[in-house]
Amino acid sequence: MEMYDNPKHLEDTFDEDLPEYLLQAQWAEFVELKKAIVELHRKKKSPLKVLDVGIGNARVLGHLAGIKEIWGLIGNYEGIDIAQNCVDITNGVIEELKIRDKASVRLLDAVNLKTLDKKYDLIISTWFTAGNFYPFGFDFKGFKPGYDMSTNDRFTMILRQAYEMLTPGGEIIIGSMYIDNEATRKRQEDAYRDFGWSLITDERDCFTASKDGWWSQRFTEQRIYDYLPFVPKKNISFIALDTYDYAMMVIIRNNP
Ligand SMILES: C[S@@+](CC[C@H](N)C(=O)[O-])C[C@H]1O[C@@H](n2cnc3c(N)ncnc32)[C@H](O)[C@@H]1O
Repeated sequence: MEMYDNPKHLEDTFDEDLPEYLLQAQWAEFVELKKAIVELHRKKKSPLKVLDVGIGNARVLGHLAGIKEIWGLIGNYEGIDIAQNCVDITNGVIEELKIRDKASVRLLDAVNLKTLDKKYDLIISTWFTAGNFYPFGFDFKGFKPGYDMSTNDRFTMILRQAYEMLTPGGEIIIGSMYIDNEATRKRQEDAYRDFGWSLITDERDCFTASKDGWWSQRFTEQRIYDYLPFVPKKNISFIALDTYDYAMMVIIRNNP
């Protein structure tokens, strides 16, 4: 069972009653995402083919579809999620909003992204989802703080496939990532405690994790470069999402 198949976890993290830091990261990410969509459409000059990796409860899709100036720039919006629960919720949203002509969702683990066998102008993964991609073989039960995160094979495997699935000039937008510093770590840990999850990590780690399988990594620009050796550095840009070094957006362009 995936974490988001657990109804209690769904309720906790998709609740409106989120800690302000997490909630406002959603807002900030949205503002930047809309700008990026408009800019990409301006360059592409045709309706965008979009893939949403880890679509969750279709929050982003629902809000994009609600703004006709933005939704009109999107030709096709596909979502994937590893949790059947999220696929079901998203299907409900698609029905309710009557956007089946453009939107669809399927159950898929992002490690198998390539099986979609398609190209996209924009691949998004929003609200800290990419930070959930923990290394293969990570042992939650036997974990000891101070884990070597100089590489992250799952993160790299997923992002490599996404990069290869971009149309020329296409973009991956990692909506928000935690910025690695002590204040952010403490805020993450507070959020975990709020949700009632028991922490197994401390200041020795660049991620926060719980015994029962929650895992969220913090990033620096260098860590992004290290994990994406196949992307020329000049094709990666970073956008601060706040004034207190909590979250950043990462845009990865498939430019020649
Ligand atoms: C933090 S939530 C974000 C949901 C949504 N993107 C949003 O912005 O509200 C992470 C989502 O990614 C999904 N997810 C995590 N790992 C995944 C994977 N390997 N493949 C596909 N989906 C995944 C989870 O099931 C969950 O729905």
